[in-house]
Amino acid sequence: MATQHIGKKTACVVGGSGFVASLLVKLLLEKGYAVNTTVRNPENQKKISHLIALQDLGDLKIFGADLTDGGSFDAPIAGCDLVFHLATPVNFASEDPENDMIKPAILGVHNVLKACVKAKAVKRVILTSSAAAVSINELNGTDLVMDESHWTDVEFLSTAKPPTWGYPASKTLAEKAAWKFAEENNIDLITVIPTLMAGPPLTPDIPSSVGLAMSLITGNEFLINALKGMQMLSGSISIAHVEDVCRAQIFVAEKESASGRYICCAANTSVPELAKFLNKRYPQYQVPTDFGGFPSKAKLTLSSEKLIKEGFSFKYGIEDVYDQSVDYFKAKGLLKN
Ligand SMILES: NC(=O)c1ccc[n+]([C@@H]2O[C@H](COP(=O)([O-])OP(=O)(O)OC[C@H]3O[C@@H](n4cnc5c(N)ncnc54)[C@H](OP(=O)(O)O)[C@@H]3O)[C@@H](O)[C@H]2O)c1
Repeated sequence: MATQHIGKKTACVVGGSGFVASLLVKLLLEKGYAVNTTVRNPENQKKISHLIALQDLGDLKIFGADLTDGGSFDAPIAGCDLVFHLATPVNFASEDPENDMIKPAILGVHNVLKACVKAKAVKRVILTSSAAAVSINELNGTDLVMDESHWTDVEFLSTAKPPTWGYPASKTLAEKAAWKFAEENNIDLITVIPTLMAGPPLTPDIPSSVGLAMSLITGNEFLINALKGMQMLSGSISIAHVEDVCRAQIFVAEKESASGRYICCAANTSVPELAKFLNKRYPQYQVPTDFGGFPSKAKLTLSSEKLIKEGFSFKYGIEDVYDQSVDYFKAKGLLKN
């Protein structure tokens, strides 16, 4: 049965327990939306404690739903004006990316969009894609600029199979599947394409992307290597504040004229340039700045011009992303003053 929220706009946030989605739920509640959100296991009170706490802010209902379970999205989406789809299977260490990430991500898109068609009242669907669906290809050349017209080359990924290739492949194929389904079923779809996000989370655990962005400060060698791998594969270290990405999602959802894909990126840099910036800003953490022969400059810039031209303003630059993430790590006892 459709949820009744008389006089209020209602949004469904798919995958509400996550880093980005939980903040999106908070911002929607603060804007007066009634929110239905889905998590895989609503019985796991510890994992969703941050969502339960958000119920004090407004009308928030938590539903159980799984990307691979057709029909599980019908109840949370029924009666909603807007649907934000953020859930995605993430398993960077997977030895079977096809079954662990690619198939469930595509199936999830189909299951969520099918529920939107059934619900009839849904006016717009906002899918969170990723810069990983835009910038990965053989990257010949330097000073490349990429925008919403670019797509990651899945054939290159599945042939070369660089480490973690399954995630960008799943994001690219899931976004393409969403565009195809939306066109065939007359759904008003918008995709938001964020870069690596950091900033203080609501989640009880430290999100993997915040750990990755903070690795040069924490000195976690494994994650520093992952950051280097990110630069080699995608051409840059491109960063945005998680709150700006959530604000951008609500902005394109509400802006009548918005359409298509929107890259949301606050800063483009490289590992060595980022290290220099962090070393200067936080001298107390002695961030190393010597990376030997590792490429000192990013090969490409991801452009958010389309989003800005639409009327969106970024609230946070890279300084804020790191100042707030450092404060969060200090508050968690993970960094000294
Ligand atoms: N964080 C970044 O830097 C970044 C950058 C670019 C794009 N993105 C995109 O932004 C979105 C949110 O990312 P995030 O960092 O917030 O991720 P996250 O914290 O890992 O959250 C992922 C969510 O997906 C859900 N999920 C995974 N498998 C599922 C399944 N089979 N059925 C239902 N739900 C499932 C998880 O739900 P459970 O709690 O139930 O496990 C979780 O809520 C994703 O689409 C991601 O690709 C993130």
